[in-house]
Amino acid sequence: MHCFLTQRNVALVVFLVLGSVTMHVSDPVVPSSLDTLRLRGNLSFGDVSLAARDFGNRYQLLPAAVLHPGSVSDIAATVRHVYRLGQGSRLTVAARGHGHSLQGQAQAAGGVVVHMESLGGGGRMIVHGGERPYVDASGGELWINVLQECLRHGLAPKSWTDYLHLTIGGTLSNAGISGQAFRHGPQISNVHQLEIVTGKGEVLNCSNEENADLFHAALGGLGQFGIITRARIALEPAPKMVKWIRVLYSDFTSFTEDQEMLISMKETFDYIEGFVIINRTGLLNNWRSSFNPQDPAQASQFDSDGRILFCLEMTKNFNQDEADDINTQVEALLSKLRYIPSTLFQSEVSYLEFLDRVHVSEVKLRSKGLWEVPHPWLNLFIPRSRIKDFAKEVFGKILTDSSNGPILLYPLNRSKWDNRTSAVIPDEEMFYLVAFLSSTPSTASDRSSLDRALKQNERVLEFCKKAGIGMKQYLPYHATREDWKAHFGESWERFARRKEAYDPLAILAPGQRIFHKAAVRASS
Ligand SMILES: Cc1cc2nc3c(=O)[nH]c(=O)nc-3n(C[C@H](O)[C@H](O)[C@H](O)COP(=O)(O)OP(=O)(O)OC[C@H]3O[C@@H](n4cnc5c(N)ncnc54)[C@H](O)[C@@H]3O)c2cc1C
Ligand SMILES: *[C@@H]1O[C@H](CO)[C@@H](O)[C@H](O)[C@H]1NC(C)=O
Ligand SMILES: *[C@@H]1O[C@H](CO)[C@@H](O)[C@H](O)[C@H]1NC(C)=O
Ligand SMILES: *[C@@H]1O[C@H](CO)[C@@H](O)[C@H](O)[C@H]1NC(C)=O
Ligand SMILES: *[C@@H]1O[C@H](CO)[C@@H](O)[C@H](O)[C@H]1NC(C)=O
Ligand SMILES: *[C@@H]1O[C@H](CO)[C@@H](O)[C@H](O)[C@H]1NC(C)=O
Repeated sequence: MHCFLTQRNVALVVFLVLGSVTMHVSDPVVPSSLDTLRLRGNLSFGDVSLAARDFGNRYQLLPAAVLHPGSVSDIAATVRHVYRLGQGSRLTVAARGHGHSLQGQAQAAGGVVVHMESLGGGGRMIVHGGERPYVDASGGELWINVLQECLRHGLAPKSWTDYLHLTIGGTLSNAGISGQAFRHGPQISNVHQLEIVTGKGEVLNCSNEENADLFHAALGGLGQFGIITRARIALEPAPKMVKWIRVLYSDFTSFTEDQEMLISMKETFDYIEGFVIINRTGLLNNWRSSFNPQDPAQASQFDSDGRILFCLEMTKNFNQDEADDINTQVEALLSKLRYIPSTLFQSEVSYLEFLDRVHVSEVKLRSKGLWEVPHPWLNLFIPRSRIKDFAKEVFGKILTDSSNGPILLYPLNRSKWDNRTSAVIPDEEMFYLVAFLSSTPSTASDRSSLDRALKQNERVLEFCKKAGIGMKQYLPYHATREDWKAHFGESWERFARRKEAYDPLAILAPGQRIFHKAAVRASS
């Protein structure tokens, strides 16, 4: 067990351990033994430690077993079995995508973890061309594999995450956002249909037309209503190349006004993000390897000098035959912006290279042993009306440097999100994603950089609360029922009703810690 468990988690684990000894079960109708299940794949009771790890590297809850499903029926049979055990059993089931959660969200203490990637692979991906192209892919499929398969047909999904070694089911359970979301909406706005195993073990197709409530519940649903076993994802013709541009600002107001202008324009860039650079020197040297400054002489003299800088990052997609035209368009767009003139950096890469850009950093970090370290990330949605207040307090005051990792900041358009889904966003037409993506390499004896980062996160959250920022967490983590209710606000009733309908025993995704499975039979 880990010292980073909160009081509440320790209580939960202790309860589970005690529960297994003292639990009072009145005549279970079905044998509880999972090993009676007949499966195409297999259940592993031995080496389960990998399923107790995630990218956050802070929580480790051992499951009782790991299911390697050989088919959707394996998943349904397992969930149905656990459902039939009723409230007398403490077994839960967590789908695990690529395990890139931050705080144990894909773990199941003493339960069954479903290794969703076993479901993919077997050639289940089918790309459909035509007027409205789409791909049918397994819920456990990695986005990088989806992209590569679609590219072979000259097609690609429209909305992305910054990093592609994540699964379809994992990102659709959150939202899936990146620099394309201002236009296409998050990934959950680009799905036509899902196949889901509910918390009762039923297999259902759902879409806007069929089982619509389940469809919307599952999108952004934090895994609470079912296990996504297949998704039908909207595609578009894939561009071949990407013009990739970065410019710097020292004035926050100009930076955000330019971002907002760009996302509101009809003819604009295809991807718009931004990041915050606090107190770093030698910054531009870092970029020189992959980006060419417009004016190398001036750029080499640019010194970030400990200032807070804001980097606007954009891309324009193109195919070779339109290169001239695209250059004209890009120049016209750039001429509307107020960045520091000597800081225009450009590069041209293939579409695949651009989309898979974070993987390059992963490979580098892995080689230095800096990937599997604690990641105390904090992802926030800040309403546009308060972004300046937020920046004024957080950048330079609470955070005096950005050496722990990138800080992303870019605007999104609320009308591209479907309010019938479970995703929670601020109640304003435009809002910002602000992501603090810290890595804190530390040894068992020295956790000070992790502790410092956690304390900073705490201060940011406290500030938001005190100042009434109207912030919502993305990839949310809340310790109490009250905080979860506040997170969902008006949609809490709907969320709870959907839980009752699709996973009444609270079997699924216990690692989100929103609902807790009753460990004893409810008294009647
Ligand atoms: C380096 C990195 C970069 C990232 N960049 C972005 C980004 O740009 N934009 C963005 O939106 N997110 C980003 N993320 C966050 C990412 O969306 C989450 O980590 C998410 O959890 C997906 O990861 P996963 O597929 O490994 O899912 P897991 O962590 O395995 O699962 C996440 C949750 O979903 C549940 N779940 C998993 N599979 C299913 C399924 N098939 N059906 C139902 N529930 C399921 C799990 O039980 C768990 O509760 C990034 C993460 C990392 C590590
Ligand atoms: C269980 O299934 C996984 C995934 O298909 C496979 O790698 C593993 O070898 C299997 N284990 C056993 C014991 O069959
Ligand atoms: C779900 O939809 C798919 C494809 O649209 C179809 O092949 C399958 O039979 C459907 N399953 C159910 C349970 O209706
Ligand atoms: C948001 O998107 C809607 C729908 O496309 C559009 O009408 C509106 O102008 C956009 N708002 C901004 C601020 O970009
Ligand atoms: C910038 O960092 C240096 C050390 O890295 C520190 O001494 C200095 O106070 C910092 N400046 C600001 C404005 O935070
Ligand atoms: C969603 O938005 C529409 C249009 O703005 C509104 O009419 C509807 O009441 C909203 N629904 C929910 C559940 O918030």
